[in-house]
Parts: sequence; C-alpha cells; structure tokens
Amino acid sequence: MPLSDIGLIGLGVMGQNLALNIGRHGFGVAVYNRTGAVTERFLAERIASEPIQGAKTAGELAALLSRPRKVILMVKAGSAVDAVTADLRPHLEPGDILIDGGNSHFRDTARREGELGAAGLRFLGAGISGGEEGALNGPSIMPGGPKEAYDAVSKVFEAVAARGPDGSPCVAYLGPRGAGHYVKMVHNGIEYAVMQLIAEIYDLLCRGLGLPALETAKLFGEWNRGELSSFLIEITSRVLSRPDPETGRPLVEVILDEAEQKGTGRWTVQDALDLGVAIPTIGAAVQARILSAMKDERTAASKILRGGGNSAGREPGVIEDARAALYAGVLCAYAQGMELLRAASEAHEFGLDLAEAARIWRAGCIIRAALLEDIRAAFSGNPDLPNLLVAPGIRDRLQEREPGWRRTAGRILQAGIPAPAMTASLSYFDGYRTERLPANLIQALRDYFGAHTYRRLDRPGSFHTDWTESGTGRV
Ligand code: 6PG
Repeated sequence: MPLSDIGLIGLGVMGQNLALNIGRHGFGVAVYNRTGAVTERFLAERIASEPIQGAKTAGELAALLSRPRKVILMVKAGSAVDAVTADLRPHLEPGDILIDGGNSHFRDTARREGELGAAGLRFLGAGISGGEEGALNGPSIMPGGPKEAYDAVSKVFEAVAARGPDGSPCVAYLGPRGAGHYVKMVHNGIEYAVMQLIAEIYDLLCRGLGLPALETAKLFGEWNRGELSSFLIEITSRVLSRPDPETGRPLVEVILDEAEQKGTGRWTVQDALDLGVAIPTIGAAVQARILSAMKDERTAASKILRGGGNSAGREPGVIEDARAALYAGVLCAYAQGMELLRAASEAHEFGLDLAEAARIWRAGCIIRAALLEDIRAAFSGNPDLPNLLVAPGIRDRLQEREPGWRRTAGRILQAGIPAPAMTASLSYFDGYRTERLPANLIQALRDYFGAHTYRRLDRPGSFHTDWTESGTGRV
C-alpha cells in the first residue's frame, strides 16, 4: 500500500468509525492502537474496501505516513493525550501535525500547542461531535490551532464532516490555540442544558400530568416535526417508546436516576464564572446532575420532607404551554452559550465568528436543531447582536411563548416538581429584560458591612454612607 494521507491513534468505537469515514472518502488511513489485538480485529472485521492499513507501534505508524505527517488522536481526554503524544513524538519531524479529536480542556490544548510548537510540530485541537454514528457518517468538527495546520488538513475534514441544510460541510477554522475545544466545550454545556430541559418537561408530563411514557413519546415525536425539531427531541421520543425486554415496562422507567458527567459541562460553567458571563440554564443543568447523583440522600429526604402534590391539573392548553416553555428554555440555553462564546473569544483572543459556530452545529452534532439556522442568520445579520434573545424574529417567538412558559413554570413549581433549568431560563429572561433590578439593595448592604461604596442614579461618583451612625441609616 502507498503511504497513507493521515494517521489515527485510538481505535475505540469513535476512532474506528472516524477511520472508516475518512477511508470511505478515498483518503489513505494508517491506524494504531496501544492494544494490538484491537487493531487486528478492526482490520479483519470492519474494513471492506477502505484504504486502511494497521501499524503495530507508533514508530511504524509514522513510517506509513506521507509528509508532513498528519495524525488524529482519538483517545480519552487528559493524561492519555500526553502519553500518546510522548510515544509518537520521537518519530515526528518539524512541520508534522497532531490533531486531538477528543474532549480535551481548552487550556490543555493551548499548552500542548505551545510545547509541541517549540519543537516545530503543529497541534490542532478539534472537537468532534455526533457520537459513534456521527463519526461514521458525518460529524460536526470544531478545529482550532495554527491556521496553516488547519489548511493542511481541511480537505479531509471537509470531506468527512456532516452537511448542513445548504450543503456546506459542518467544519470551520475557529481560531488559534484552544478555540476549537472551547467551542466544543460550550456545545456540551448547551447539550447538558437542553437535555435537562427535556427531562424536566418529561417529568411534568409523566409524573405531574400522569401521561404514560408512550404518550409522552408521541408528543415529543410531534414536537420534533415543528419548531423544536432537533436531534435531542427526536431521540427523546425514541427512548421513551422503547420497552424493557425483561419487565415489559418502558425501559426509561427502570433506569437509575443518577446522571453522570465527564467534565465538559462543569468546565463550561467554571469558565463562564471566570469570565463573568451569566449562563444560569447551563449552570442549573450541571447542578441538577450533581443533585441527581445523591440518590441515597434524596431517598432518605423523601421520607422526611414534604411539598407539592407531584401532580398538576390537566386543564386545556397545558401541553401546548409545556411545549412553549421547552422552546423558550432551549432558546435561553443557546443564547447563553453564544454569549459565553463571544466573551471567551474576546478574553482568550480567539477571533471567533459566532455565525460560523452556529453554522457548523446545524448538522452532525448532538445539539443540531432547526433553530440553529435562525441563530446563524441572527449573528450573520448582526455580529454585534447584544444577545440572541433580542434578535428580530427570535424575540417575537419568545414573546409569543412567554405566557405559556410562565404558566408552565407556575404549574411545575406548584406541583413540587423540580425544574431548575426551566425556571433559571425564565429568570434569565426576566432579569435580562428588567431595567431596574434589586441590585441597589445589594450595593447598599455591601456598603453597610464593608464600606464597598455604591453609585447613585442621579449623579456620578462613588458614595459611602455611615449606615449605623447617620440619621437615615439608623435602624
Ligand atoms: C458529542 C458529545 C460527546 C459526549 C459528551 C458526554 O458531542 O458527541 O458531547 O462528546 O456525549 O462528552 O458528556 P458527559 O459524559 O459529560 O455527559
């Protein structure tokens, strides 16, 4: 076989599927996995006519590649990326390109780019979304790093990426250093938020209104044919309609209610806090996973603490209101993600094009949704849009749904069903549209106990009041 165009290390299912996808597009691929038996099985069982060859060592892999070498790492984020890089590094030459296709932290990506750059090697951090199916048939790819390194691999990325509604590939150069992994991290933050919003509405429908899972599945299926059309709503409908072969009950009802997380949602919230960006819907989703994981404590508390009746009235319009609340909450989640991307681009100097980020999320990735075309258009029409919520068109749809959203929040809170993401979204909307918030009192309290000073509405300057001594402040 001639020298391969690209190498791939890490033959987990994602790595295998991506190798097959690249091979199917006519690029020669050389693959290497630390456990050699995995490589052998992959070559024997999954390769049909794709130009894919296997290597037994990192050195052998390097020898199979045309120059400059391009190697995609599909290994677990964290120390494995450094270990694989160290393994391969002695066999590379200046100009060669390493591409980390995992969910690495953007700061690790920036560090690796710096360390390898010092040796003349080029490092790209590319978030890849779409799960196993996406890797095989077309993922959304979010690359960042040296631009000329991106240019050297863009043909491969563009060939294997999913196609958006306009036929364009769901990949774009997003910026230097960790820009690609940053965008993927925020993608995952939005993913957490949308999944939590869906789960809250499912809870209202099933537990609150007493609808059977199958009926709820039908509703999500219907909603998927309208403005909520998206991958996550679609698979919710499928998941809710799957019976458990052992018990005959809906499978979802026998699944333990503890949500796990690998870190990207938490990182999103951590960086948003550092940058001073409000992303309460995403934050609520991360917190809800943490609370869900405290199963034993929740079970004990459920015997002690009472509240709400866990049921909501089935009055007319309740389902339509729930749909409105879900749509509005989802809009808030995307709005917050886009705000974080804007702030991060400025703070970390990514030079990110928000319309491009929305464009490459329209297909292939987990948060793909019909709504993303509206988001792309909003930022393309006005890159300085202060917030997605005020974009023409989007704001009208949000306003139309506002009464149903509010009624749903009222019902769910009254029933004692937790809906942290939905209520955080509504408070985000209300906070953002409120001219005068009670932060005046917070300023006064800060000044009372710490002489932190406050500003006044009627004249410029910083002021301090001796709250305990002065006539006006005495309690
Ligand atoms: C994707 C997914 C993928 C993975 C998440 C899951 O875009 O394909 O986001 O990367 O599903 O990392 O994250 P948690 O395990 O933290 O839920």
